[in-house]
Amino acid sequence: MTDTVPVGPPIIEVRNLKVGASERTILDDVTLDVFDRQVTAVIGPSGSGKTTFIRTLNRMVETTPGLRVEGSIRYQGQDIHDPRVNPVLLRQRIGMVFQRPAVFPMSIYNNVVFGLRLNGTDPSEFDRIVGHSLERAGLLKELQGNLDRPAFELSGGQQQRLCIARALAVKPRVLLMDEPTGSLDPISTQRVEETVEELRREIAIVIVTHSIAQAARVSDRTAYFYQGRLVEVAPTEVLFERPTQKLTEEYITGRFG
Ligand SMILES: Nc1ncnc2c1ncn2[C@@H]1O[C@H](COP(=O)(O)OP(=O)(O)OP(=O)(O)O)[C@@H](O)[C@H]1O
Ligand SMILES: [Mg+2]
Repeated sequence: MTDTVPVGPPIIEVRNLKVGASERTILDDVTLDVFDRQVTAVIGPSGSGKTTFIRTLNRMVETTPGLRVEGSIRYQGQDIHDPRVNPVLLRQRIGMVFQRPAVFPMSIYNNVVFGLRLNGTDPSEFDRIVGHSLERAGLLKELQGNLDRPAFELSGGQQQRLCIARALAVKPRVLLMDEPTGSLDPISTQRVEETVEELRREIAIVIVTHSIAQAARVSDRTAYFYQGRLVEVAPTEVLFERPTQKLTEEYITGRFG
């Protein structure tokens, strides 16, 4: 990605984040900024803590018992662990899409309005929001107006884009994507990448990927994690062409070679 937008203050500021499970440390002293209207890619070997990292950003990590979180995370300047912060609302502002599409056992339409019913959106707005969200997720045309079908009847790639539409319906400011194309074929992967490209100047996106080529295609900045630590973060081209850390270089050359 080459064009740049003026970079404002970070939308999420992570400082000295540490996540532990009983005796072991999963994330150690991670300090990272996520900027608005940019795509941040998170790369690193399996087990390096990528999923745990993005799950801490919207407090999803709390749904897994036994993990301790230390350090500070600010979203738009506010400490997300402040007792006044409602985690359910936080997860609408900072939405998430998982590797395996997690559609709900209901119609396509009801999947998209799920969060709108929870946050008290006026139902007369539903049709408009559903259309707009499916359009932005690159799914509307394919569905040809048939939104009453069970979501399970969609292909895997379509289900993933439905999950993106569901996350977008509640107007997130940040979208966290954990290997969103990990289980998809190349054409569905391309569609999801096109969606990321469309959203990239509107909201902040943090995308975990095992594909260095994908990180290079879709992201503005890339963060390299290794054994629970953030080794290096830089503009994507810089990280791939001139990494400053030997660990980063070993990882990216290993994958290219
Ligand atoms: N709830 C938990 N309890 C104990 N250990 C955990 C827990 N969740 C994750 N871990 C450990 O933390 C480490 C990082 O896991 P995580 O899922 O964040 O890695 P990852 O980088 O996303 O890996 P992958 O690329 O395979 O998805 C792993 O060693 C994992 O076993
Ligand atoms: Mg993972």
